Amino acid sequence: MRTCSLLMERLMANVLTTRNCTADQCDLSDGIGTDLGTQQLTLLSALLDPTTRTVLRSLQPKENARYLEVGAGNGSIAEMMAAGFGGSVLAVDKDVTNLVASPGVDVVHHDVLNGVPIGPFDLIHARLVLAHLPARRRVFAQLVEQLAPGGWLVIADVGVAAELLVAPEESDRAIWRRYTHAAYQRFRPEVDCDYGWADRAEVEMFGAGLADVAAQHLVPLARGGGPWTSYHLNLSLQNEDGLLATGLRREDLDRYRTMLTDPEFRARFFSLTYTTGRKPTA
Ligand SMILES: C[S@@+](CC[C@H](N)C(=O)[O-])C[C@H]1O[C@@H](n2cnc3c(N)ncnc32)[C@H](O)[C@@H]1O
Repeated sequence: MRTCSLLMERLMANVLTTRNCTADQCDLSDGIGTDLGTQQLTLLSALLDPTTRTVLRSLQPKENARYLEVGAGNGSIAEMMAAGFGGSVLAVDKDVTNLVASPGVDVVHHDVLNGVPIGPFDLIHARLVLAHLPARRRVFAQLVEQLAPGGWLVIADVGVAAELLVAPEESDRAIWRRYTHAAYQRFRPEVDCDYGWADRAEVEMFGAGLADVAAQHLVPLARGGGPWTSYHLNLSLQNEDGLLATGLRREDLDRYRTMLTDPEFRARFFSLTYTTGRKPTA
């Protein structure tokens, strides 16, 4: 735990002193390939991999299973599947800057909007990818097609749960509202982000004929200076130009970032829904 918090402190220091990218599309990770993009993936791994490991392990993947990791990011899940569960992993991403092959993991530079890799796969995992894709339902249907009989599909995506719980100063409440408004405009559904998708994935899995469908919904509590606020600080830096372009004032953005580092600050930013389902064997 201490190692984790030291890592977060170091990342926090880096996040606060680095800014070198902007984003023009609805991909919160458009900075991937930059320092901030790499930090974002490192934070995601530290924050979410333990939950993802628990979810994947609960599916009791068979020995020598064939895995597909979609939008693999820095490859931490692909590595976990190969090293932790055994089997072979095909890890695909449209940006492989942070993705290196490791024992049991093949890396392919690929945009799934051009079609998904051919299976059959015993387990397909996509975390924080489909909600940001314009053609998410088409990609979803293709992923279902590539499942082996009995194979699992695991989708994890974010929904919006923005709520400021403790403001360091009363005036911060208005700044939080203005920042949140700007962030919604920046990532509004019309530019392809769908923050309702995470909670609909369960219905989509039933509709696709998957069996044993289950979903769990987590809402992390973020504290000032903690790992989740580091993550949101990182997003505010990656998307600075887009946020300012919505009319958000520079002084509000600066105060928002300071607020995120205040140890008194507490908020919920978004929810995470993990949805699992398997292809019937007959
Ligand atoms: C927010 S990151 C999540 C990374 C990783 N799944 C995780 O949870 O740590 C989204 C990832 O999906 C990748 N991605 C986005 N659109 C993609 C596409 N159309 N085809 C393949 N990869 C894509 C991005 O390059 C990025 O690595």
